[in-house]
Amino acid sequence: MKAEIIRPSLTPRSDRKELISDLFHALNQPLTTLRCSLELTLHQPVRAAEQYREALNHALDHAEQVVRLVSGIRELVEVDESAADSEVLELNSYLQRCAKRMQAVGVKSFREYYECLTIKPIRQAELISLLNEITVGETCFFRNQPQLDAIRNLVIPRIVEARAKMALRHLRIWSAGCSTGEEPYTLAMMMTEEIAGRMKGWTFEITATDLNERSVAHAKQGIYGNYSTRNLTQYFRQKYFTPRGELLQVNSEMKSCISFQRLNLLDDSRMAFMKGIDLVMCCNVLIYFDGMSKKRVIQHFYNNLLPHGYLFLGHSESLYGVTDDFQLVHLPSATAYVKSEKRHISR
Ligand SMILES: C[S@@+](CC[C@H](N)C(=O)[O-])C[C@H]1O[C@@H](n2cnc3c(N)ncnc32)[C@H](O)[C@@H]1O
Repeated sequence: MKAEIIRPSLTPRSDRKELISDLFHALNQPLTTLRCSLELTLHQPVRAAEQYREALNHALDHAEQVVRLVSGIRELVEVDESAADSEVLELNSYLQRCAKRMQAVGVKSFREYYECLTIKPIRQAELISLLNEITVGETCFFRNQPQLDAIRNLVIPRIVEARAKMALRHLRIWSAGCSTGEEPYTLAMMMTEEIAGRMKGWTFEITATDLNERSVAHAKQGIYGNYSTRNLTQYFRQKYFTPRGELLQVNSEMKSCISFQRLNLLDDSRMAFMKGIDLVMCCNVLIYFDGMSKKRVIQHFYNNLLPHGYLFLGHSESLYGVTDDFQLVHLPSATAYVKSEKRHISR
């Protein structure tokens, strides 16, 4: 995607003021440089106006230069890592996140930071750190209960039936875009319950992947606060977690069911290795992808799913206009996609 360079001089006046304020903030140049003294304004209004104009021109020059650099950084992130989230981020958000990284790296100008991402030895590591700032990981345990009910009551039994025909009493689940791990842990708890009940003698494994290295590290650690655990019932809290002060830690039994990995869904070579999957959960991830990237990722899911495999997306997402290779299935409390004949069915 070609990054659009916003010319501050062409933006509406109110936006311009905000942009300049943000840029000055990011550049660590206090806005006071734009302010003339009250005395000067009152007694020499023409000189004061000139000073204002000069300061403003200076600010606009800076703004334009910074916007150009940040646009360059946005292009770098999109080209080098194909970070899907970057598509939706406003230039302004990029600016704030770059400013945060600049502080961490200890550089003062956007030019220097651009060099950190392009020519300095730290460039690869820094690109990952910037991506960690950019990707958005909103999630929680049991985020979509109707979807989980459909998986547990309808989808798992169908997968079990298909797997039994293959004489393999083992299920493979992939949580793609797992953020800090709440989704795969929810699935692990649900599957553990099933195996203790209707699925005696079966085993399962969950692969949970995300682009954001920091989220993957958090997921591996498995410690969560009130916001993430707000939907957990007393039963699940007590059975699968250990209190750590105000926080809850996932038990080691649940951790052992999941393999967490950093994976970019647009990394074709690594995506090709995720074969033999029964169920892909890719919820609230593709909303950030452009059309072409979405097609690529969905094609990988298609190739990696077993013939009876199911794909679940977030409740506001669909494959409409993306592919005809999957069949839409209306389950009572959710919709899913299955591989097979290309026709729309309702159940
Ligand atoms: C909103 S979270 C969804 C978390 C979870 N699936 C859920 O629904 O609760 C979106 C996640 O997608 C990840 N993501 C964005 N672009 C990605 C990419 N290209 N490859 C892998 N993960 C990506 C982000 O890092 C973020 O953790």
